[in-house]
Amino acid sequence: MKVLVVGSGGREHAIVWKLLQSPKVEKVYCAPGNGGISQIAECVPIGAMEFEKLADYAEKEGIGLTVIGMDDPLVGGVVDVFEARGLRVFGPRANAAIIEGSKAFSKELMKKYGIPTAAYEVVHSPEEARAYLETSEYPIVLKADGLALGKGVLICQTKEEAMAGVDTLMVQKQFGSAGDTIVIEEFMTGREVSVLSFCDGRTIRIMTSAQDHKRAKDGDRGLNTGGMGTFSPSPFFTKEIEEECMETIFRPTLAAMAAEGRPFTGVLFFGLMLTEKGPKVLEYNARFGDPETQVVLPRMENDLLEVFEACVDGTLDQVELRFADNAAVCVVLASDGYPEHYERGFVIEGLERFEGRDGYYCFHAGTKATEKGIVTNGGRVLGVTALGGDLHEAKRNAYEAVEWVGFENKYFRHDIGQAFEER
Ligand code: AMP
Ligand code: GLY
Repeated sequence: MKVLVVGSGGREHAIVWKLLQSPKVEKVYCAPGNGGISQIAECVPIGAMEFEKLADYAEKEGIGLTVIGMDDPLVGGVVDVFEARGLRVFGPRANAAIIEGSKAFSKELMKKYGIPTAAYEVVHSPEEARAYLETSEYPIVLKADGLALGKGVLICQTKEEAMAGVDTLMVQKQFGSAGDTIVIEEFMTGREVSVLSFCDGRTIRIMTSAQDHKRAKDGDRGLNTGGMGTFSPSPFFTKEIEEECMETIFRPTLAAMAAEGRPFTGVLFFGLMLTEKGPKVLEYNARFGDPETQVVLPRMENDLLEVFEACVDGTLDQVELRFADNAAVCVVLASDGYPEHYERGFVIEGLERFEGRDGYYCFHAGTKATEKGIVTNGGRVLGVTALGGDLHEAKRNAYEAVEWVGFENKYFRHDIGQAFEER
């Protein structure tokens, strides 16, 4: 089968790489892809938001399945466009992707169906927000309703900070219309864990757990980013906690979406906080995580195409997911200055050192193939993943491999995986 993957990040590189291991996959295409993806698949110069062009291409090339990696096209309805044209596609329709696209929607859903999450209030104007904040307890969390690349969340220690946050989101509109409505949320403490699942509308299958490091700097300082590194599994997400989440969060969420007439097909990503009062939902995403995928897929033993097809065909109840009894750590190599200002266009040296090294992977995010070779082309440039027998070994291996590649403004965190060592 020919498969088309839509997206251009490290997540899509990992998906393409994993699909190529399936004996059923004849060829993989990626739109628009990146420098690393172009070395293993055919990159197609169509943007992820050009739905009709993507569908035209899938039709013309005889693509058997299109896999949507990114959130924007999902929320924008790319799956609906493909389905209307009779094309097979993996991902939720717009009416289900809203679980990520609108925080107000997801909070109301959790409230209606009794799914544990932080207490909150949805507000639609700066005045309403300020009035609410007068009587709140601190710290408190402000979230832009819409998509903001994981950056529209402000954790405010004091009333003054929160009032300034309302200005940033709702008056200056730093995240555009994503801030027209905001969610004001109780601040929770505990361990964070990312749990990805496959869903076919009725059945949910949980993948192995992971933990992301969202802040730009060591020691969880600096601005929130898309994610600076991950490890898998999370030692805090025990079998007992998984069972509890299955009963209180995972199955109830899928059932709630079906009951609302929004059956969820695709990858449903649960951002959880393991609080003293039990696991609670921080956020939902309607797709694979980036860089969670870069530690989860290298540990997965199933044929990824088979799992995607089971989701699309509604036969996921016949699939058991299998993950290796090992661990993985991914360290993101970024351009210094990310997530704010940074330069691009620097040649990346040493990429060939990953060739033929089992258990070491270099997934490209912001890179581009040029006449000079592969150059940097974004904030997050590469995700260096290594496997190990346990998390400690995987971490050592990943930090060893981080030294194999170089570019002028290379920046990375030195403490990815610190959390599991504190245990
Ligand atoms: P989100 O995009 O909703 O996952 O938020 C980004 C990050 O902000 C999360 O990974 C948490 O570290 C933090 N965060 C979000 N909501 C809360 C909350 N209610 N309490 C504490 N931390 C939060
Ligand atoms: N790494 C978090 C996300 O993909 O949203």
